[in-house]
Amino acid sequence: MRIAIGCDHRGLVLKQTVMNQLALQGHGYEDFGTYDSAPVDYPDVARRVAEAVANGHVDLGILTCGTGLGMSMSANKIKGVRAALCHDTFSARMSREHNDANILCLGSWVIGQGVAEDIVKAFLGAKFEGGRHRKRVEKIRELENIG
Ligand code: RB5
Repeated sequence: MRIAIGCDHRGLVLKQTVMNQLALQGHGYEDFGTYDSAPVDYPDVARRVAEAVANGHVDLGILTCGTGLGMSMSANKIKGVRAALCHDTFSARMSREHNDANILCLGSWVIGQGVAEDIVKAFLGAKFEGGRHRKRVEKIRELENIG
Protein backbone atom coordinates (compact mmCIF):
# COMPACT_ATOMS: atom_id res chain seq x y z
CA MET A 1 0.00 0.00 0.00
CA ARG A 2 1.34 3.43 -0.95
CA ILE A 3 0.63 6.24 1.49
CA ALA A 4 1.07 10.01 1.14
CA ILE A 5 1.72 11.82 4.40
CA GLY A 6 1.80 15.52 5.23
CA CYS A 7 1.61 17.95 8.11
CA ASP A 8 1.81 21.59 9.05
CA HIS A 9 4.22 22.88 11.71
CA ARG A 10 1.84 21.84 14.51
CA GLY A 11 1.56 18.32 13.17
CA LEU A 12 5.26 17.80 12.49
CA VAL A 13 6.09 15.67 15.54
CA LEU A 14 3.00 13.50 15.11
CA LYS A 15 3.79 13.03 11.42
CA GLN A 16 7.26 11.81 12.36
CA THR A 17 5.70 9.37 14.82
CA VAL A 18 3.36 8.06 12.14
CA MET A 19 6.19 7.76 9.59
CA ASN A 20 8.20 5.68 12.06
CA GLN A 21 5.17 3.47 12.58
CA LEU A 22 4.62 3.06 8.83
CA ALA A 23 8.27 2.15 8.30
CA LEU A 24 8.20 -0.40 11.12
CA GLN A 25 5.06 -1.97 9.68
CA GLY A 26 6.53 -2.14 6.19
CA HIS A 27 4.25 0.43 4.54
CA GLY A 28 5.70 2.54 1.75
CA TYR A 29 5.09 6.24 2.20
CA GLU A 30 5.89 9.52 0.53
CA ASP A 31 6.41 12.60 2.69
CA PHE A 32 4.81 15.74 1.23
CA GLY A 33 6.13 18.03 3.97
CA THR A 34 6.32 20.25 5.81
CA TYR A 35 9.81 19.29 6.85
CA ASP A 36 10.63 21.64 9.71
CA SER A 37 8.91 23.68 12.42
CA ALA A 38 8.65 26.92 10.40
CA PRO A 39 4.97 27.96 10.19
CA VAL A 40 3.18 26.94 7.00
CA ASP A 41 -0.43 27.09 5.83
CA TYR A 42 -2.15 23.72 6.17
CA PRO A 43 -4.21 24.05 2.93
CA ASP A 44 -0.98 24.02 0.90
CA VAL A 45 0.10 20.67 2.31
CA ALA A 46 -3.41 19.22 2.33
CA ARG A 47 -3.66 20.03 -1.35
CA ARG A 48 -0.46 18.16 -2.24
CA VAL A 49 -1.49 15.02 -0.35
CA ALA A 50 -5.11 15.19 -1.52
CA GLU A 51 -4.07 15.52 -5.17
CA ALA A 52 -1.73 12.54 -4.84
CA VAL A 53 -4.65 10.49 -3.52
CA ALA A 54 -7.17 11.80 -6.05
CA ASN A 55 -4.93 11.18 -9.07
CA GLY A 56 -4.03 7.66 -7.94
CA HIS A 57 -0.36 8.37 -7.25
CA VAL A 58 -0.96 6.80 -3.82
CA ASP A 59 -3.68 4.62 -2.30
CA LEU A 60 -4.28 6.54 0.93
CA GLY A 61 -3.19 9.71 2.70
CA ILE A 62 -2.52 10.79 6.28
CA LEU A 63 -2.51 14.46 7.32
CA THR A 64 -1.66 15.96 10.69
CA CYS A 65 -2.03 19.47 12.08
CA GLY A 66 -2.92 20.92 15.49
CA THR A 67 -6.55 19.85 15.48
CA GLY A 68 -6.82 17.92 12.20
CA LEU A 69 -9.70 20.22 11.28
CA GLY A 70 -7.97 22.49 8.80
CA MET A 71 -6.39 19.52 7.04
CA SER A 72 -9.69 17.66 6.72
CA MET A 73 -11.61 20.74 5.55
CA SER A 74 -8.96 21.49 2.94
CA ALA A 75 -8.46 17.93 1.67
CA ASN A 76 -12.20 17.44 1.24
CA LYS A 77 -12.28 20.27 -1.31
CA ILE A 78 -10.39 18.06 -3.78
CA LYS A 79 -12.63 15.91 -5.98
CA GLY A 80 -12.44 12.24 -5.16
CA VAL A 81 -11.13 12.79 -1.65
CA ARG A 82 -12.98 11.56 1.41
CA ALA A 83 -10.91 12.79 4.34
CA ALA A 84 -11.91 11.58 7.81
CA LEU A 85 -10.91 13.38 10.99
CA CYS A 86 -10.70 10.57 13.55
CA HIS A 87 -9.62 10.67 17.15
CA ASP A 88 -10.82 7.21 18.09
CA THR A 89 -10.19 3.78 16.60
CA PHE A 90 -13.87 2.98 16.04
CA SER A 91 -14.36 6.00 13.78
CA ALA A 92 -11.11 5.27 11.96
CA ARG A 93 -12.22 1.71 11.16
CA MET A 94 -15.75 2.77 10.21
CA SER A 95 -14.49 5.58 7.98
CA ARG A 96 -12.89 2.91 5.80
CA GLU A 97 -15.57 0.21 6.07
CA HIS A 98 -18.63 2.40 5.47
CA ASN A 99 -17.37 5.64 3.91
CA ASP A 100 -14.36 4.41 1.94
CA ALA A 101 -12.33 7.24 3.43
CA ASN A 102 -9.06 7.71 1.59
CA ILE A 103 -7.36 10.23 3.88
CA LEU A 104 -7.00 10.07 7.66
CA CYS A 105 -6.60 13.38 9.51
CA LEU A 106 -5.20 13.61 13.02
CA GLY A 107 -4.82 16.47 15.49
CA SER A 108 -1.61 16.53 17.48
CA TRP A 109 -3.17 18.82 20.11
CA VAL A 110 -6.03 16.39 20.62
CA ILE A 111 -4.50 12.94 20.99
CA GLY A 112 -1.20 11.47 22.15
CA GLN A 113 1.24 9.28 20.29
CA GLY A 114 -0.13 5.93 21.47
CA VAL A 115 -3.73 6.69 20.53
CA ALA A 116 -2.61 8.08 17.18
CA GLU A 117 -0.71 4.89 16.41
CA ASP A 118 -3.76 2.77 17.24
CA ILE A 119 -5.93 4.97 15.02
CA VAL A 120 -3.51 4.67 12.10
CA LYS A 121 -3.43 0.89 12.58
CA ALA A 122 -7.25 0.72 12.62
CA PHE A 123 -7.53 2.90 9.50
CA LEU A 124 -4.95 1.01 7.46
CA GLY A 125 -6.22 -2.38 8.61
CA ALA A 126 -9.83 -1.80 7.57
CA LYS A 127 -11.35 -2.28 4.12
CA PHE A 128 -14.35 -0.74 2.39
CA GLU A 129 -17.28 -3.14 2.73
CA GLY A 130 -19.00 -2.08 -0.49
CA GLY A 131 -22.54 -3.43 -0.73
CA ARG A 132 -25.15 -0.99 0.55
CA HIS A 133 -22.44 1.54 1.29
CA ARG A 134 -21.32 1.82 -2.31
CA LYS A 135 -24.29 3.80 -3.54
CA ARG A 136 -24.00 6.15 -0.57
CA VAL A 137 -20.35 6.83 -1.31
CA GLU A 138 -21.38 7.37 -4.94
CA LYS A 139 -23.85 9.98 -3.68
CA ILE A 140 -21.01 11.73 -1.85
CA ARG A 141 -19.24 11.85 -5.20
CA GLU A 142 -22.34 13.38 -6.84
CA LEU A 143 -22.24 16.19 -4.28
CA GLU A 144 -18.91 17.25 -5.75
CA ASN A 145 -20.77 18.52 -8.79
CA ILE A 146 -23.07 20.84 -6.84
CA GLY A 147 -22.18 24.50 -6.45
C1 RB5 B 1 -1.98 26.13 13.39
O1 RB5 B 1 -1.86 27.13 14.33
C2 RB5 B 1 -3.31 25.42 13.53
O2 RB5 B 1 -4.36 26.31 13.27
C3 RB5 B 1 -3.39 24.22 12.60
O3 RB5 B 1 -2.37 23.34 12.90
C4 RB5 B 1 -4.66 23.42 12.65
O4 RB5 B 1 -5.03 23.13 13.95
C5 RB5 B 1 -5.76 23.98 11.84
O5 RB5 B 1 -6.84 23.37 11.70
